[in-house]
Amino acid sequence: MSAHAEPVPMTARASGPLRGRAEVPGDKSISHRALILGAMAVGETRVTGLLEGQDVLDTAAAMRAFGADVERLGPGDWRVAGVGVGGFSEPADVIDCGNSGTGVRLIMGAMATTPMTAVFTGDASLRKRPMGRVTQPLSLFGARAFGRAGGRLPMAVVGAADPLPVRYTVPVPSAQVKSAVLLAGLNAPGETVVIEKEATRDHTERMFAGFGAGIGVEDTAEGRVITLTGRPELRPQRVAVPRDPSSAAFPVCAALLVPGSEILVPGVSRNPTRDGLYVTLLEMGADIAFENPREEGGEPVADLRVRHSVLKGVETPPGRAASMIDEFPVLAVVAACAEGVTVMRGVKELRVKESDRIDAMARGLEACGVRIDEDEDTLIVHGMGPGGVPGGATCAVHLDHRIAMSFLTLGLVARAPVSVDDGGPIATSFPGFEALMTGLGADIARTPA
Ligand code: S3P
Repeated sequence: MSAHAEPVPMTARASGPLRGRAEVPGDKSISHRALILGAMAVGETRVTGLLEGQDVLDTAAAMRAFGADVERLGPGDWRVAGVGVGGFSEPADVIDCGNSGTGVRLIMGAMATTPMTAVFTGDASLRKRPMGRVTQPLSLFGARAFGRAGGRLPMAVVGAADPLPVRYTVPVPSAQVKSAVLLAGLNAPGETVVIEKEATRDHTERMFAGFGAGIGVEDTAEGRVITLTGRPELRPQRVAVPRDPSSAAFPVCAALLVPGSEILVPGVSRNPTRDGLYVTLLEMGADIAFENPREEGGEPVADLRVRHSVLKGVETPPGRAASMIDEFPVLAVVAACAEGVTVMRGVKELRVKESDRIDAMARGLEACGVRIDEDEDTLIVHGMGPGGVPGGATCAVHLDHRIAMSFLTLGLVARAPVSVDDGGPIATSFPGFEALMTGLGADIARTPA
């Protein structure tokens, strides 16, 4: 939904120890995929633990517009009656994906091999983001796209009437591009092959297998080779969505930084393709215990027990970037409060997220008194040690939920309060953020007018 609500300025202040249980919402990536695959299966899929953030609600509305019956039964509990692979009907109106790059790119893939036209748009952030990275491979199936200059939304996609299977090497590490091609491959005859040189989050592959699609993954000298046999009949599933490690990152990092804290974050996905932040925090000296490891909904999960820790700067290698791509903003905050320098390499994909996240973090941290160096592909944060960040600034969020939550996390330990110009976008991925954090003892509130 791209209606622009009034900005919601928010402020975080130095807080006492954070204590308690932090039940973060369902995984955003898995929630989008559960709705889309449910809509492409024949029969009734049941999803529990679905993230009810605006991004996912927009995908639910889109699936209805393509003909699926999508119903909310209770909190996080959803029913999707699918129309089968190739069974989408042409939407009668524009599909508005709001703030969600994942939503729009995956849905473009899902409809690109069915003969129909769909017109996509989004909010001011999404309308700036490049769609060519998905429409280019979708054109290999025979789909056509007509967008604004630079491959921007609004954009019409005309699905292929006689799709051909595709062999495609993903040129940038992007799970959205990989997933768009695989979703398009569902309705193409024969074998669609996607090769990724660097592994990205693998929820699509896992869920395809769960829904009964013929999919194989092989690690070769060329990279990760994913082979999909087209035109399967997808079997409806029960999908239990694990809690989102990218959302968990905020209470986890806050508890590490605020002296005296100890929190428990139950049921968080520990999928190795999403684990880079946690690997990095342990290297920095974080006290995080991964308790009760188990499998839920086809994903490894654990309960995270997190205690305040004194952290030191580290270097994150380019090969780790994909597994922590959404966590660099909050890592930059942790790095600012650590002792020594943290160097994040291979991070240029951050420039095409909901905002240019390198620029947004660099400018906001500088305003809070932190020294930053950056180039196109690198972010360097000069840590000021525990209690060392001056704060006392209002940081621009640029319609980016993770930038907002990162600076509010910083405000809990900076010497002066840290504000954000707009906390509204937090609702795209973590609607209960403010309540959850204040429940742990954080001082985060709407800034008084
Ligand atoms: C996502 C993939 C990543 C990530 C995004 C979710 C997904 O984007 O940043 O938040 O669900 O596939 P890219 O594919 O652009 O790296």
